[in-house]
Formats: sequence, C-alpha cells, structure tokens
Amino acid sequence: MTDPRTAAIQYAHENAQRFLDELKDYASIPSISTDPAAKPNMQRAAEWTAAQLRALGIKGVQIYSTAGHPVVYGEWLEAGPQAPTALIYGHYDVQPPDPLELWVSGPFEPTVRGEYIFGRGVTDMKGQVMVALKSVEAIVRTGKLPINLKFMIEGEEEIGSPSLEAFMLEHKKLLACDFAINPDCGTLTPDIPSITYALRGLAYFELRVFGPDHDLHSGVFGGSIHNPAQALCELIAGMHDTHGRVTLPGFYDKVHPLEAEERVELARLPMGDDFILENTGSPTVWGEAGYTSVERIGARPTLEVNGMLSGFTGEGTKTVLPAWAMAKISCRLVPDQTPEGTYQQMEKYLEMNAPASIRWTLKDMHGGMPSMSDIKSPYVQALSQAMETVWGRRPVFKREGGSVPVVGQFQQILGVESVNTGFSMHGDNMHSPNEQLHLPTWYRGIDAFIHFFYNLSK
Ligand code: BES
Ligand code: MN
Repeated sequence: MTDPRTAAIQYAHENAQRFLDELKDYASIPSISTDPAAKPNMQRAAEWTAAQLRALGIKGVQIYSTAGHPVVYGEWLEAGPQAPTALIYGHYDVQPPDPLELWVSGPFEPTVRGEYIFGRGVTDMKGQVMVALKSVEAIVRTGKLPINLKFMIEGEEEIGSPSLEAFMLEHKKLLACDFAINPDCGTLTPDIPSITYALRGLAYFELRVFGPDHDLHSGVFGGSIHNPAQALCELIAGMHDTHGRVTLPGFYDKVHPLEAEERVELARLPMGDDFILENTGSPTVWGEAGYTSVERIGARPTLEVNGMLSGFTGEGTKTVLPAWAMAKISCRLVPDQTPEGTYQQMEKYLEMNAPASIRWTLKDMHGGMPSMSDIKSPYVQALSQAMETVWGRRPVFKREGGSVPVVGQFQQILGVESVNTGFSMHGDNMHSPNEQLHLPTWYRGIDAFIHFFYNLSK
C-alpha cells in the first residue's frame, strides 16, 4: 500500500494541468478591491473561493459580509481534538492592473509563457491561496486530513484590511486555533525555499500643499509667491538627511538595533546588491548609511513617495503656477513602531518644517502593524522539513520588506503565531504590469504543503 503522502503527491502531479486551469479561472476575475466599480467581481471572487472550499468537503463555508468586501470562512475539524488546528489566511483581492498598455497579455486573461503564468493576482496571491487549496484537495481525495483546518480568505488586503480587525474581534471563537498559516510571503529564488520571520508594518499618508486659491499664470505671478509644487518637493526632500535616514522627529526612537548575530545571518542570504540591481533595473543601490540592502529592506524602517500630482502634466506645455500639490507618502515600519505614532511624527515634521507661505493637510490613510514571528515552533519545523523534502535543501529564514498586517493581528487578537511563507519572487512584478508566477515553484509549493500537513500530525 502506498503511504498517504505519496498518494497525495501523485494525485497532485496527475492533476497539475487542471490545477493550473483553475488558477486561470480564479485569476480571470478582476477582484480589484480598491475599485468601487469592481464590487460585483469581489462577490464573484468570494463565491469562487467558497465553492472551492465546499468542493473539498470543508464545513460551515460561509461568505461573511463586512463593512467592506466579504470574508470567506470555512473549517474542517474532524481530525480530532488531539490534532493541531491551523488557520489558513489568504486574500482574494488584487491590485489595480494599470498601466494597461504595458501588459504583454491582458491582466485578467491569465496566460502561460514558458515557465510562468502571467496575470494580475497570480502571484499576489491567488496562486498562493491555490497552493493551500490544492494541497488540501490532494490529501482529501487520497486520504484524510491529519490536522484541523480553518480558512479565512479576505477581500481587502490590498487596501489595508480595513474590515478584518472588526471581523476577527467579532469571531474570535470561530477563529480560535493553535497557529496561523500565511502564504502571502515570497521566496528568494526557485532553488531556495523560504520562511519569513518578520514583516514590516505600514503607515500611509496623503499630504496636500495649498498656495494661491486658483491656478495662476506663471509669468504674471511667478516669483511673487511660493509655488506649492516646489514647497511640496522641499518638504519631501527634507524627509531624508544626506545619510539616507528619515528625519521625522522620533522616527527611530522605538526601532530595535540589529543584533550582530542576526546581521551575520542576513548577510548569508543571497540578496546582495547584485540581486537588487538585477530585480529592479536601477543604476545603483541607495539607502540608509551603515546598512546593507538586505538589512535596509527587512530590518530598517523607510519612507517612500508613492506618487505626486500637481499642475500641468499633459502633453505639450502650459505655463501655470499650480494652486496645489499632492503626494502619497508611506513608511514601512519595524517593531516597535506604530502607524499612529508615525502619523504624529509626520504631523510634527510638517509643523516644524512647513513654511508660512503655504497651507497643508495630512490625511491618515490605512496602516498596519509590523510583526516578528516565532520560528522555533514545531509548526515552523514541520514546514521547514517539508521544504527540505521537496527542495532537497533547508529553507532560509528571512525578513520581508512588504507588509501583511494580519500577522500582527493574529498575535494580538487570537494570541497565535503565524507560519509565513509563499512562492512568489522578487522578479514577479507584484503590483506592476506583467505580474507572473513561476509554475515549477508553484507545483513544488503544493507538494511542500502536502508534506507540511502530514508532518503536522506527528
Ligand atoms: N503579498 C504582499 C506583501 C508581500 C510582498 C509579502 C512581498 C512578502 C513579499 C501583500 O499582498 C501586500 O502587497 N501588502 C501590502 C499591504 C498594505 C496594502 C497594507 C503592501 O505590502 O504594500
Ligand atoms: Mn499585494
């Protein structure tokens, strides 16, 4: 008799093409959470997710409505009280696809080229949700799930999960578990499986600068008043010093210094400057003095301008002195910074530095807490062993520069740690045109999750 995990893996390999077809189906739903016009698509994606769960025999599958987009929940608790209970997290929403003209194939017409599938959401993170769903399918079709599972798949991750905290507080009992599984984190290269132990938080602002009460002729008035676009640029330029450090007052007060031991570990990761240059196309690296790129991304807080708008930006020319200027600015946070604290620091910076020649407003957009996860748990060991079985090498443990705020909420609200992993890569164009997913790695991910679940029963 074949042992159950071999049978499950064989099933996964035999059904590889259908798994891919289903991923295409999922990724063809334009579930863009930030777009009000996409509301029906959000419902469709939630229903698609729920139907998958039901087909697996998951019980109590329900689409919970929230103040925003719905949360899909389901559970299978028949492994018994001795077996651990894992809460699998995912999101079915995606980022907007623009600029559309840069896509080689349509963002919602998932297309395979070579070893990749291209489409919005394939890597962030419908493909990752499918790793969890298809590994569970392979197990339930060939044997029996060795652990208890709960699923919580939300539709607002890409807009900062505004409804999730209330949902989790309201359904604390329903969500009770021993640990969470979060496959929304990436890996380094196809050959190197990864487990993430730290995620940065986020504080997002919209800063507006106002000058004259209407757009002016730049010749008639230029030189006599402070141009808001210029004032905004001056304010932004002052947010870093010449060492690449953020100048918001108190910004680094709560940041933990990096221990020498951890720096040694981080330096081992294949994420040198070459890796950054290769994946970005930038002429050089840049950042806070005294830190390497991998440290700057994972372990240090940063401030980025996400976008700016002012005056005339169309084709041709227009001699105008704009009435206002706007910038979207966000900070990536590390423990123990908070989005609220960072907002206050930004406000203070503006109070101290904004000239009397302009007025400004600062809007607090969404935010999320940074987190550090325990990697000594048996749950992490179970995944680590599973990856070693599939890849033939131990995973690396890394910090992630991106944010998955729910990890901190799992700690705070449910009192549980997360196993953070995933199979997306730095070159996968997350949030950019031509988002892609490396299919051989995706299939290995499914195999690894099958081993992971079986390892957890021990
Ligand atoms: N999956 C990403 C976060 C991520 C990216 C983790 C790369 C690991 C590697 C997630 O969907 C995301 O983009 N999150 C947002 C969160 C924000 C909107 C609160 C982010 O990081 O910008
Ligand atoms: Mn994302």
